Amino acid sequence: MDQPKKFYLTTPIYYANSRPHVGSAYTTIVCDVIARYKRMCGYEVAYLTGTDEHGVNIERAAEKLGIPPAELVDRNQKIFRELWKLLGIQYTHFVRTTSTEHARAVQTLIRRTLKRTPQAIYKAKYEGRYCIYDNLYVSDSPEPADCQICGRPAELISEENYFFRLSAYQDKLLALYRDRPEFVQPDFRLNEVKSFVEAGLKDVSISRKSIKWGIPWPDDPEHVFYVWYDALTSYMSGIGYGQGPDGDASPEFKSLWPADLHMIGKEIIRFHAVYWPAFLMAAELPLPEKIFAHGWLLFEQEKMSKSKGNIAYPEPIVKAFDELTGAKVGNDALRYYLLREVIFGQDGNFSREALITRYNADLANGLGNLASRVLTMIEKYQDGIIAAPGKVIDFGPGFTETHQKVLKSYGRLEFSSAVGEIWATIASTDFYLTNTKPWDDSQTASERATILYRSAAAVRFICVLAYPVIPDATQKVWEQLGQHGKLADVRIDQLKWGDLQPGTKIGKPSAVFPRIDKEEAMERIEAMENEIRNPATPITVPAGTGSAATAGTAPAAGTAKITIEDFAKVELRVGVVKSAERIPNADKLLKVMVDIGDEVRQVLAGIATAYAPEDLVGRKVVVVTNLAPRKMRGLESNGMLLAASAGAEGKPVLCTFAEEIAPGSKVK
Ligand code: MSP
Repeated sequence: MDQPKKFYLTTPIYYANSRPHVGSAYTTIVCDVIARYKRMCGYEVAYLTGTDEHGVNIERAAEKLGIPPAELVDRNQKIFRELWKLLGIQYTHFVRTTSTEHARAVQTLIRRTLKRTPQAIYKAKYEGRYCIYDNLYVSDSPEPADCQICGRPAELISEENYFFRLSAYQDKLLALYRDRPEFVQPDFRLNEVKSFVEAGLKDVSISRKSIKWGIPWPDDPEHVFYVWYDALTSYMSGIGYGQGPDGDASPEFKSLWPADLHMIGKEIIRFHAVYWPAFLMAAELPLPEKIFAHGWLLFEQEKMSKSKGNIAYPEPIVKAFDELTGAKVGNDALRYYLLREVIFGQDGNFSREALITRYNADLANGLGNLASRVLTMIEKYQDGIIAAPGKVIDFGPGFTETHQKVLKSYGRLEFSSAVGEIWATIASTDFYLTNTKPWDDSQTASERATILYRSAAAVRFICVLAYPVIPDATQKVWEQLGQHGKLADVRIDQLKWGDLQPGTKIGKPSAVFPRIDKEEAMERIEAMENEIRNPATPITVPAGTGSAATAGTAPAAGTAKITIEDFAKVELRVGVVKSAERIPNADKLLKVMVDIGDEVRQVLAGIATAYAPEDLVGRKVVVVTNLAPRKMRGLESNGMLLAASAGAEGKPVLCTFAEEIAPGSKVK
């Protein structure tokens, strides 16, 4: 039997000083789509990710928290792994740069380099400006300079370091780009890289004396490796480089290296397309096949990044969707949105509102509705059996054409067009149903069987093609269609129309993408994001106001009892409403100005469905006054109004007082 073809794919390893946001998770999500697609094409895929755990920014972040760096990175790498699990990321290798195996690999690589190309490494004095937030040499002169990524002033560094003679690689790199134009993609990025190299290359310092938190230089432990030399080596250490019996390469490394694809964001292209191939050339190791630099996810037109504070996190989105629909849809919703909305390779804007709109339009009304229509009719008219078509139908070149186009788009990493093609088939199948009307009494059983077979075959076809992007829902529909096994095991490249067997008994139809209320979803997401930003909230206050501030934080009935000291942490005061008004485009939220004795607070409360703003003025309410501020709809909420939650619909009923009571009085 033929050995399966191998495909080795990597994401950058993530800085372990902070948690991932939607922008950084984007690289990993995209790679998961590629990994799933390649597996469906018969490849054995190795997919590596990990955490970048050395460097000065980790050292400082730990110092701030008063914990050792090892504890910080250990804590943070778990957050990454948990997130990847939540997002269904099927990586096969996870590297931590603080592992002994990785350290051995980095030292092995430099030893090999010193042996094969000794002139590539030398010791010299370094003076320059360095950005500790982006781990980047901003300038090789001691003059003050700002970081080109985050804009902060860079730090002065002056010390004796080991240097890599990058300047000697200019011609070799230019020859590489010329001989292998596919090496860097998209092509406009290759042009940027070429211009950079053509302008002349300076040698780079690859060790540090001033930093302790790193991998020691072999035989000169006063120096630790520069974090990028350390980090780039993870692509090899993670698959066994430096561990083999010959002290250099394990059998796994030999079978997987060179990587087929390093997927990265555009801001780290220089490290990957200039430094990394030069490091490998000096070590006389094969170069990766391809480096693809995708664009940024922008949030309000700026790069989403922790240093700017404009971040959306993936967990609240996924969890809010799952909780509000009672189905596991959040992961698919996020993946679908990112892959469809952003033209891969270019920058794209991220918006939670647009994500919810897309979910309702394309997933709930699109695929979900089509699957449910078809399955319900098969159940209703054919006792749940997919009947043979009444007449032999030519499934038509249209579908073959779509199949070819989708494969081509996936192959070229043009995800938005792949998804667009698949959704065009959803639309045309819907249109076909509307035109042929299988529900019409005038249809004979045979005519109806033809229409329903064709539609069910289309849904099956769509499931296979869309699986890499929305793996959870497609698997559910697959099973509802009575198909066996895992979609992951279906060969997407060998998909055939006629593979839907007449006589198949379908499963129970149920909605795979229940619709979601935009405002409710926004409130839930924002509340959870606030929870991530202000994790210090002493205890969670039971929900019940229907107020946005509490959504998603209610402990389940029967949770552990709290002590009186716990309760005393919640500051409750009497408030008197001074004014209230609606918030544009928010049906449930009111902006309430409430007098709490020594100040008038702005509180956003989710009570608009139960109270008219004008009826609230003068009303006495109970305010939680020591809740961390939260932002909703761009407005700050400084507290929470307590309310009961009435009936099955949870209508909010504000807590109030029958007796006279002054604003600001303590409630206990
Ligand atoms: N640790 C380095 C990589 C070393 S690889 C040898 C690093 N880490 S990172 O955590 O900052 O970035 C991880 C990935 O997230 C990179 O691909 C980066 O480009 C990507 N992104 C971070 N913010 C992003 C956006 N706002 N949008 C899209 N991708 C972004 O760099």
